[in-house]
Amino acid sequence: MSAALLTGTPLTGRVAVVSGASSGMGAVTAQRLAELGATVIVLARRKDKLDGVVKTIEAAGGTALALAVDVTDRAAVQSAADQVAARFGKADLVFNNAGVQLISGIEELKVDDWQRQIDLNISGLMNVIAAFLPHLTDSAAQGKPADLINTSSIAATRILAKFSIYSGTKAYISHLTRLLRVELGPKMVRVATIEPGMVDTELPDHVTDPDASQLMADLIHDIDCLQSADIAETVAFMAAVPRHVNLTEITMYATRDPRGLAARRRGPRLRPRGRPQRGQLHRLGQARPDQGTRRGGRADDRVRPLQRLVAQQLVELRRLPHVRHRLREDHRQARL
Ligand SMILES: NC(=O)c1ccc[n+]([C@@H]2O[C@H](COP(=O)([O-])OP(=O)(O)OC[C@H]3O[C@@H](n4cnc5c(N)ncnc54)[C@H](OP(=O)(O)O)[C@@H]3O)[C@@H](O)[C@H]2O)c1
Repeated sequence: MSAALLTGTPLTGRVAVVSGASSGMGAVTAQRLAELGATVIVLARRKDKLDGVVKTIEAAGGTALALAVDVTDRAAVQSAADQVAARFGKADLVFNNAGVQLISGIEELKVDDWQRQIDLNISGLMNVIAAFLPHLTDSAAQGKPADLINTSSIAATRILAKFSIYSGTKAYISHLTRLLRVELGPKMVRVATIEPGMVDTELPDHVTDPDASQLMADLIHDIDCLQSADIAETVAFMAAVPRHVNLTEITMYATRDPRGLAARRRGPRLRPRGRPQRGQLHRLGQARPDQGTRRGGRADDRVRPLQRLVAQQLVELRRLPHVRHRLREDHRQARL
Protein backbone atom coordinates (compact mmCIF):
# COMPACT_ATOMS: atom_id res chain seq x y z
CA MET A 1 0.00 0.00 0.00
CA SER A 2 1.30 3.47 -0.88
CA ALA A 3 2.54 5.67 1.97
CA ALA A 4 1.38 8.84 0.18
CA LEU A 5 -1.21 10.70 2.24
CA LEU A 6 -0.57 14.32 1.33
CA THR A 7 -2.17 15.66 -1.81
CA GLY A 8 -1.61 18.70 -4.01
CA THR A 9 1.55 20.77 -3.76
CA PRO A 10 1.66 22.10 -0.19
CA LEU A 11 5.44 22.61 -0.39
CA THR A 12 5.40 24.95 -3.39
CA GLY A 13 7.94 27.74 -2.92
CA ARG A 14 10.01 25.76 -0.42
CA VAL A 15 13.74 25.20 -1.02
CA ALA A 16 14.68 21.85 0.50
CA VAL A 17 18.15 20.42 1.11
CA VAL A 18 18.42 16.70 1.73
CA SER A 19 21.70 15.13 2.86
CA GLY A 20 22.29 11.42 2.33
CA ALA A 21 20.02 11.67 -0.69
CA SER A 22 21.78 9.21 -3.01
CA SER A 23 19.95 6.20 -1.58
CA GLY A 24 17.45 4.99 0.98
CA MET A 25 15.36 7.38 3.02
CA GLY A 26 17.09 10.50 1.70
CA ALA A 27 16.55 9.66 -1.98
CA VAL A 28 12.88 8.81 -1.54
CA THR A 29 12.25 11.83 0.68
CA ALA A 30 13.88 14.14 -1.87
CA GLN A 31 11.58 12.77 -4.56
CA ARG A 32 8.49 13.14 -2.37
CA LEU A 33 9.32 16.71 -1.33
CA ALA A 34 9.72 17.60 -5.01
CA GLU A 35 6.42 15.91 -5.89
CA LEU A 36 4.77 18.09 -3.26
CA GLY A 37 6.16 21.23 -4.88
CA ALA A 38 9.55 21.91 -3.25
CA THR A 39 12.73 22.70 -5.15
CA VAL A 40 15.16 20.07 -3.89
CA ILE A 41 18.94 20.05 -3.57
CA VAL A 42 20.36 16.58 -3.01
CA LEU A 43 23.69 16.05 -1.22
CA ALA A 44 25.81 12.89 -0.92
CA ARG A 45 29.12 11.60 -2.25
CA ARG A 46 27.97 9.33 -5.12
CA LYS A 47 27.28 11.79 -7.94
CA ASP A 48 25.90 9.15 -10.32
CA LYS A 49 23.24 8.15 -7.81
CA LEU A 50 22.38 11.78 -7.10
CA ASP A 51 22.04 12.42 -10.83
CA GLY A 52 19.61 9.51 -10.98
CA VAL A 53 17.48 11.09 -8.21
CA VAL A 54 17.49 14.44 -10.04
CA LYS A 55 16.51 12.74 -13.29
CA THR A 56 13.54 11.06 -11.62
CA ILE A 57 12.43 14.35 -10.07
CA GLU A 58 12.75 16.24 -13.34
CA ALA A 59 10.95 13.53 -15.27
CA ALA A 60 8.01 14.03 -12.90
CA GLY A 61 8.06 17.79 -13.57
CA GLY A 62 9.99 18.83 -10.46
CA THR A 63 13.10 20.97 -9.93
CA ALA A 64 16.26 19.55 -8.38
CA LEU A 65 20.02 20.00 -8.21
CA ALA A 66 22.67 17.42 -7.32
CA LEU A 67 25.72 18.55 -5.38
CA ALA A 68 28.32 15.86 -4.69
CA VAL A 69 29.46 16.65 -1.17
CA ASP A 70 31.14 14.73 1.59
CA VAL A 71 29.39 16.24 4.60
CA THR A 72 32.38 15.53 6.85
CA ASP A 73 34.19 18.22 4.84
CA ARG A 74 33.06 21.49 6.41
CA ALA A 75 34.34 23.71 3.61
CA ALA A 76 32.60 21.58 0.98
CA VAL A 77 29.27 21.82 2.83
CA GLN A 78 29.67 25.58 3.16
CA SER A 79 30.37 25.81 -0.56
CA ALA A 80 27.19 23.80 -1.24
CA ALA A 81 25.19 26.21 0.93
CA ASP A 82 26.61 29.16 -1.02
CA GLN A 83 25.70 27.51 -4.34
CA VAL A 84 22.15 26.91 -3.13
CA ALA A 85 21.80 30.55 -2.08
CA ALA A 86 23.15 31.80 -5.43
CA ARG A 87 20.91 29.54 -7.50
CA PHE A 88 17.64 29.27 -5.56
CA GLY A 89 17.84 31.65 -2.60
CA LYS A 90 17.99 30.55 1.02
CA ALA A 91 17.01 26.99 1.93
CA ASP A 92 14.03 26.75 4.27
CA LEU A 93 13.86 22.99 4.76
CA VAL A 94 16.92 20.94 5.72
CA PHE A 95 16.58 17.18 6.09
CA ASN A 96 19.88 16.40 7.83
CA ASN A 97 19.91 12.70 7.14
CA ALA A 98 23.31 11.33 6.05
CA GLY A 99 24.50 8.65 8.44
CA VAL A 100 26.21 5.31 8.79
CA GLN A 101 25.71 2.39 11.15
CA LEU A 102 28.68 0.14 11.91
CA ILE A 103 27.96 -2.39 14.62
CA SER A 104 30.65 -4.18 16.61
CA GLY A 105 31.42 -5.34 20.13
CA ILE A 106 33.26 -2.70 22.10
CA GLU A 107 36.15 -5.06 22.90
CA GLU A 108 36.81 -5.59 19.21
CA LEU A 109 38.22 -2.05 19.33
CA LYS A 110 37.19 -1.22 15.77
CA VAL A 111 38.31 2.33 16.37
CA ASP A 112 38.23 3.25 12.68
CA ASP A 113 34.53 2.32 12.57
CA TRP A 114 33.94 4.33 15.76
CA GLN A 115 35.60 7.33 14.18
CA ARG A 116 33.70 6.99 10.90
CA GLN A 117 30.37 7.05 12.70
CA ILE A 118 31.36 9.98 14.89
CA ASP A 119 32.75 11.89 11.89
CA LEU A 120 29.61 11.42 9.80
CA ASN A 121 26.73 11.10 12.27
CA ILE A 122 27.92 13.88 14.56
CA SER A 123 30.47 16.12 12.79
CA GLY A 124 28.82 15.77 9.38
CA LEU A 125 25.44 16.61 10.88
CA MET A 126 26.96 19.65 12.62
CA ASN A 127 28.62 20.81 9.39
CA VAL A 128 25.22 20.85 7.67
CA ILE A 129 23.72 22.77 10.58
CA ALA A 130 26.56 25.30 10.53
CA ALA A 131 26.26 25.92 6.79
CA PHE A 132 22.47 26.06 6.54
CA LEU A 133 21.38 27.55 9.85
CA PRO A 134 21.75 31.13 8.53
CA HIS A 135 19.47 30.10 5.63
CA LEU A 136 16.83 28.84 8.05
CA THR A 137 16.94 31.85 10.38
CA ASP A 138 16.77 34.22 7.39
CA SER A 139 13.81 32.35 5.91
CA ALA A 140 12.03 32.38 9.26
CA ALA A 141 12.75 36.10 9.69
CA GLN A 142 11.04 36.69 6.32
CA GLY A 143 7.93 34.97 7.61
CA LYS A 144 8.46 31.69 5.75
CA PRO A 145 8.26 28.24 7.32
CA ALA A 146 11.75 26.99 8.25
CA ASP A 147 12.52 23.38 9.14
CA LEU A 148 15.58 21.58 10.43
CA ILE A 149 14.76 17.88 10.57
CA ASN A 150 17.55 15.61 11.84
CA THR A 151 17.56 11.84 11.36
CA SER A 152 18.18 10.00 14.59
CA SER A 153 17.05 6.43 15.30
CA ILE A 154 15.28 4.30 17.87
CA ALA A 155 18.87 3.34 18.73
CA ALA A 156 19.09 6.72 20.47
CA THR A 157 17.07 5.35 23.37
CA ARG A 158 17.16 1.54 23.06
CA ILE A 159 19.87 -0.38 24.91
CA LEU A 160 21.32 -2.73 22.31
CA ALA A 161 24.61 -4.59 22.72
CA LYS A 162 27.18 -3.85 19.98
CA PHE A 163 25.32 -0.70 18.95
CA SER A 164 27.22 1.46 21.47
CA ILE A 165 28.90 3.95 19.17
CA TYR A 166 26.04 4.20 16.67
CA SER A 167 23.51 4.58 19.49
CA GLY A 168 25.74 7.16 21.14
CA THR A 169 25.83 9.24 17.97
CA LYS A 170 22.05 9.02 17.59
CA ALA A 171 21.47 9.89 21.25
CA TYR A 172 23.59 12.96 20.58
CA ILE A 173 21.34 13.90 17.66
CA SER A 174 18.10 13.41 19.59
CA HIS A 175 19.23 15.46 22.54
CA LEU A 176 20.89 18.12 20.40
CA THR A 177 17.57 18.59 18.63
CA ARG A 178 15.75 19.21 21.92
CA LEU A 179 18.38 21.73 22.93
CA LEU A 180 18.39 23.56 19.58
CA ARG A 181 14.64 24.03 19.80
CA VAL A 182 15.12 26.13 22.91
CA GLU A 183 17.19 28.65 20.95
CA LEU A 184 15.59 28.39 17.53
CA GLY A 185 11.90 27.95 18.38
CA PRO A 186 11.57 31.58 19.49
CA LYS A 187 12.99 32.56 16.06
CA MET A 188 10.26 30.49 14.36
CA VAL A 189 12.71 27.85 13.13
CA ARG A 190 11.11 24.46 13.69
CA VAL A 191 13.58 21.84 14.89
CA ALA A 192 12.69 18.19 14.80
CA THR A 193 14.09 14.71 14.90
CA ILE A 194 12.78 11.50 13.44
CA GLU A 195 13.72 8.26 15.16
CA PRO A 196 12.90 5.40 12.81
CA GLY A 197 13.10 1.72 13.67
CA MET A 198 14.15 -0.71 10.98
CA VAL A 199 13.80 0.73 7.47
CA ASP A 200 14.53 -1.37 4.40
CA THR A 201 17.53 0.52 2.92
CA GLU A 202 21.23 0.04 2.12
CA LEU A 203 22.16 0.81 5.73
CA PRO A 204 22.71 -2.83 6.87
CA ASP A 205 24.98 -3.44 3.87
CA HIS A 206 27.76 -1.58 5.66
CA VAL A 207 27.56 -3.76 8.79
CA THR A 208 30.50 -6.16 8.98
CA ASP A 209 29.38 -8.20 12.03
CA PRO A 210 27.74 -11.37 10.56
CA ASP A 211 25.39 -11.89 13.57
CA ALA A 212 24.15 -8.31 13.35
CA SER A 213 23.67 -8.57 9.57
CA GLN A 214 21.68 -11.77 10.03
CA LEU A 215 19.51 -10.23 12.74
CA MET A 216 18.73 -7.25 10.53
CA ALA A 217 17.96 -9.45 7.54
CA ASP A 218 15.62 -11.55 9.76
CA LEU A 219 13.91 -8.46 11.11
CA ILE A 220 13.38 -7.02 7.63
CA HIS A 221 11.87 -10.35 6.61
CA ASP A 222 9.78 -10.94 9.77
CA ILE A 223 8.27 -7.63 10.75
CA ASP A 224 6.99 -5.98 7.59
CA CYS A 225 9.47 -3.23 8.36
CA LEU A 226 9.26 0.47 7.54
CA GLN A 227 9.89 1.62 3.97
CA SER A 228 11.69 4.77 2.89
CA ALA A 229 8.37 6.06 1.56
CA ASP A 230 6.95 5.97 5.12
CA ILE A 231 9.78 8.20 6.30
CA ALA A 232 9.39 10.48 3.27
CA GLU A 233 5.69 11.03 3.92
CA THR A 234 6.35 11.75 7.59
CA VAL A 235 9.06 14.30 6.82
CA ALA A 236 6.82 15.95 4.22
CA PHE A 237 3.98 16.10 6.72
CA MET A 238 6.24 17.67 9.38
CA ALA A 239 7.13 20.38 6.87
CA ALA A 240 3.59 20.86 5.57
CA VAL A 241 1.81 21.55 8.86
CA PRO A 242 1.08 25.21 9.66
CA ARG A 243 4.09 27.31 10.59
CA HIS A 244 3.15 27.61 14.25
CA VAL A 245 3.13 23.81 14.69
CA ASN A 246 6.42 22.04 15.41
CA LEU A 247 6.24 18.24 15.43
CA THR A 248 9.44 17.74 17.34
CA GLU A 249 10.23 14.09 18.05
CA ILE A 250 8.69 11.42 15.86
CA THR A 251 9.53 7.83 16.74
CA MET A 252 8.50 5.32 14.09
CA TYR A 253 8.40 1.58 14.62
CA ALA A 254 7.07 -1.03 12.24
CA THR A 255 3.87 -2.09 13.96
CA ARG A 256 5.15 -5.63 14.47
CA ASP A 257 8.68 -4.64 15.49
CA PRO A 258 9.25 -6.56 18.75
CA ARG A 259 11.77 -3.97 19.91
CA GLY A 260 9.07 -1.30 20.15
CA LEU A 261 6.83 -3.68 22.04
CA ALA A 262 9.64 -4.60 24.40
CA ALA A 263 10.29 -0.95 25.17
CA ARG A 264 6.68 -0.49 26.19
CA ARG A 265 6.52 -3.74 28.13
CA ARG A 266 9.49 -2.72 30.24
CA GLY A 267 7.43 0.32 31.29
CA PRO A 268 7.29 1.51 34.88
CA ARG A 269 8.93 -0.51 37.63
CA LEU A 270 6.60 -2.43 39.91
CA ARG A 271 8.20 -1.03 43.01
CA PRO A 272 10.62 1.82 43.57
CA ARG A 273 14.20 0.59 44.03
CA GLY A 274 15.45 0.54 47.62
CA ARG A 275 13.64 1.50 50.77
CA PRO A 276 10.71 3.86 50.11
CA GLN A 277 11.20 7.35 51.46
CA ARG A 278 8.75 8.80 53.94
CA GLY A 279 5.80 10.34 52.08
CA GLN A 280 6.71 8.69 48.78
CA LEU A 281 3.72 7.09 47.04
CA HIS A 282 4.08 3.59 45.68
CA ARG A 283 3.17 3.57 42.06
CA LEU A 284 1.06 0.46 42.53
CA GLY A 285 -1.74 0.59 45.09
CA GLN A 286 -0.78 4.18 46.00
CA ALA A 287 0.09 2.93 49.50
CA ARG A 288 2.09 5.26 51.69
CA PRO A 289 4.90 3.44 53.52
CA ASP A 290 3.99 5.24 56.75
CA GLN A 291 0.33 4.15 56.45
CA GLY A 292 1.44 0.55 56.21
CA THR A 293 3.62 0.89 59.27
CA ARG A 294 0.87 2.57 61.30
CA ARG A 295 -1.35 -0.44 60.69
CA GLY A 296 1.30 -2.74 62.03
CA GLY A 297 2.12 -4.20 58.56
CA ARG A 298 4.81 -3.31 56.04
CA ALA A 299 4.06 -1.18 52.98
CA ASP A 300 5.31 -4.06 50.81
CA ASP A 301 2.39 -6.19 52.02
CA ARG A 302 -0.01 -3.94 50.16
CA VAL A 303 2.01 -4.15 46.96
CA ARG A 304 2.64 -7.92 46.92
CA PRO A 305 -0.88 -9.03 45.91
CA LEU A 306 -0.64 -6.76 42.90
CA GLN A 307 2.76 -8.16 42.00
CA ARG A 308 1.31 -11.66 42.23
CA LEU A 309 -1.52 -10.63 39.92
CA VAL A 310 0.87 -9.13 37.40
CA ALA A 311 3.09 -12.23 37.57
CA GLN A 312 0.07 -14.48 36.92
CA GLN A 313 -0.92 -12.35 33.95
CA LEU A 314 2.60 -12.59 32.55
CA VAL A 315 2.48 -16.40 32.81
CA GLU A 316 -0.81 -16.36 30.93
CA LEU A 317 0.56 -14.01 28.29
CA ARG A 318 3.61 -16.22 27.72
CA ARG A 319 1.27 -19.03 26.69
CA LEU A 320 0.12 -17.02 23.67
CA PRO A 321 2.14 -17.97 20.56
CA HIS A 322 2.68 -14.42 19.29
CA VAL A 323 3.96 -13.28 22.70
CA ARG A 324 6.32 -16.28 22.87
CA HIS A 325 7.61 -15.32 19.43
CA ARG A 326 8.11 -11.74 20.58
CA LEU A 327 10.03 -12.82 23.68
CA ARG A 328 12.27 -15.05 21.56
CA GLU A 329 13.01 -12.09 19.31
CA ASP A 330 13.84 -10.02 22.37
CA HIS A 331 16.25 -12.62 23.65
CA ARG A 332 17.96 -12.80 20.28
CA GLN A 333 18.20 -9.05 20.34
CA ALA A 334 19.67 -9.05 23.84
CA ARG A 335 22.32 -11.62 22.81
CA LEU A 336 23.62 -9.36 20.04
N1 LIG B 1 17.66 2.04 7.68
C1 LIG B 1 17.34 2.05 8.96
O1 LIG B 1 16.86 1.05 9.51
C2 LIG B 1 17.50 3.31 9.78
C3 LIG B 1 16.87 3.39 11.01
C4 LIG B 1 17.03 4.53 11.77
C5 LIG B 1 17.80 5.56 11.31
N2 LIG B 1 18.43 5.47 10.11
C6 LIG B 1 19.24 6.60 9.67
O2 LIG B 1 18.73 7.04 8.44
C7 LIG B 1 19.72 7.78 7.74
C8 LIG B 1 19.72 7.36 6.29
O3 LIG B 1 20.10 6.01 6.19
P1 LIG B 1 19.43 4.97 5.19
O4 LIG B 1 18.82 3.92 6.03
O5 LIG B 1 18.63 5.65 4.18
O6 LIG B 1 20.74 4.27 4.60
P2 LIG B 1 21.56 4.51 3.26
O7 LIG B 1 20.75 4.11 2.09
O8 LIG B 1 22.87 3.82 3.48
O9 LIG B 1 21.78 6.09 3.21
C9 LIG B 1 22.87 6.74 3.77
C10 LIG B 1 23.12 8.00 2.98
O10 LIG B 1 24.15 8.76 3.61
C11 LIG B 1 25.05 9.15 2.58
N3 LIG B 1 26.39 9.38 3.10
C12 LIG B 1 27.20 8.47 3.69
N4 LIG B 1 28.37 9.04 4.00
C13 LIG B 1 28.31 10.34 3.58
C14 LIG B 1 29.20 11.43 3.61
N5 LIG B 1 30.42 11.32 4.16
N6 LIG B 1 28.80 12.60 3.08
C15 LIG B 1 27.58 12.73 2.52
N7 LIG B 1 26.67 11.73 2.49
C16 LIG B 1 27.05 10.54 3.01
C17 LIG B 1 25.02 8.03 1.57
O11 LIG B 1 25.42 8.47 0.29
P3 LIG B 1 26.89 8.35 -0.34
O12 LIG B 1 27.42 7.00 0.02
O13 LIG B 1 26.63 8.52 -1.81
O14 LIG B 1 27.68 9.47 0.23
C18 LIG B 1 23.54 7.71 1.55
O15 LIG B 1 22.88 8.59 0.68
C19 LIG B 1 21.02 7.52 8.50
O16 LIG B 1 21.30 8.63 9.32
C20 LIG B 1 20.69 6.33 9.37
O17 LIG B 1 21.47 6.28 10.53
C21 LIG B 1 18.29 4.36 9.31
